[in-house]
Amino acid sequence: MFFLAVSEFTRDVDRAFWIITAICVVLFVGIALVMGMFAFTYHRSKRPTIEQIAGNNTLEVIWTILPTILVFYIFYVGYADFLNMRQVPEDAMVVEVTGKKWAWEYYYPEEDIMTNTLVVPVNQPVKFLLHSTDVLHSFYLPDFRVKEDCVPGREGYMWLKAEVVGTYNIFCAEYCGQSHSTMLSELEVVDQKSYKNWVRGKLEDKNQPVDLVKAVDPESQEMVDLREKGKKTYETICAVCHQKDGLGGGAVEARNLTEKDGWVRGAKISDIYVTLTEGLADVKKGSGMAAFTGIQPWDRFAVAHYVASLGKFDSPEVTPEDLEKLRDSYPTLETGGGIVGPKMDVEKAIRLIAKEAREAGR
Ligand code: CUA
Repeated sequence: MFFLAVSEFTRDVDRAFWIITAICVVLFVGIALVMGMFAFTYHRSKRPTIEQIAGNNTLEVIWTILPTILVFYIFYVGYADFLNMRQVPEDAMVVEVTGKKWAWEYYYPEEDIMTNTLVVPVNQPVKFLLHSTDVLHSFYLPDFRVKEDCVPGREGYMWLKAEVVGTYNIFCAEYCGQSHSTMLSELEVVDQKSYKNWVRGKLEDKNQPVDLVKAVDPESQEMVDLREKGKKTYETICAVCHQKDGLGGGAVEARNLTEKDGWVRGAKISDIYVTLTEGLADVKKGSGMAAFTGIQPWDRFAVAHYVASLGKFDSPEVTPEDLEKLRDSYPTLETGGGIVGPKMDVEKAIRLIAKEAREAGR
């Protein structure tokens, strides 16, 4: 979309680009013409003797002042736009962007929503707070001509206002390790109404009461839904290293998720959940598996379901009986009626299941 101006920045940066290009073209053509003209006019067949010229003050003043003005003009063209890029409008909404090896996460503090696809309303200034959990990344939206580093331990920012509804590429523009090139994401610019619907959908999703017993029953619709949900998250985040089919390998030697042996914590849903929550760096030396706490607990639970379903082996799953047992031992986890509601600490429940299962040696 090289010529489509999707924001003020696109127009500004492109204008600066074309102005500088035009100046260069004019200078290049001018210099080449004069050079050709001199070669022709002063050819030795026409002027066999050479005149000695000691200097020309008028010419020297001109070729000092003109380029100086030109250089300052070029500086001004860039700097005026740069200032605009650093001054965030007061009414900007805020999205926190986190770069990690090798995915982008977006957090909407106002709505308390976490996602992997950036969705913003059209004609709304958006301020991005930039973070990194590990190494240098760079948040780059080429269509908007904006790019800013994500530096570990420091908060950076940038902003933009998208004027055209559409889907735009997001890249990482700082080499950050083996899967740097797969650190891709998308910005969806939608109209106000669609944005509100999207937020509502996300919130409903997040606060949806789930029957935990049905959620671990392979025959239930809840289980099917969770797997579908987990599949989406898996494909945007986990597949970067573990591949779409779960076979792993590749540059980072991610584990093969369809294989039975060698799971550091075990292959049960609860084990996978804990692995997603805590990563493996503490229990396995050299493991690149990071903690993915940026994914909300229910989504992590869904991913665990999906990952467990990738295997062609019989993975010992958390059973409805496990949960019933848990419910008896920890009645406080329940919010009533067998339905586990949003108030329930999913995190805690699944950790307890994992712990019990491990102690029971399953
Ligand atoms: Cu992150 Cu390159």
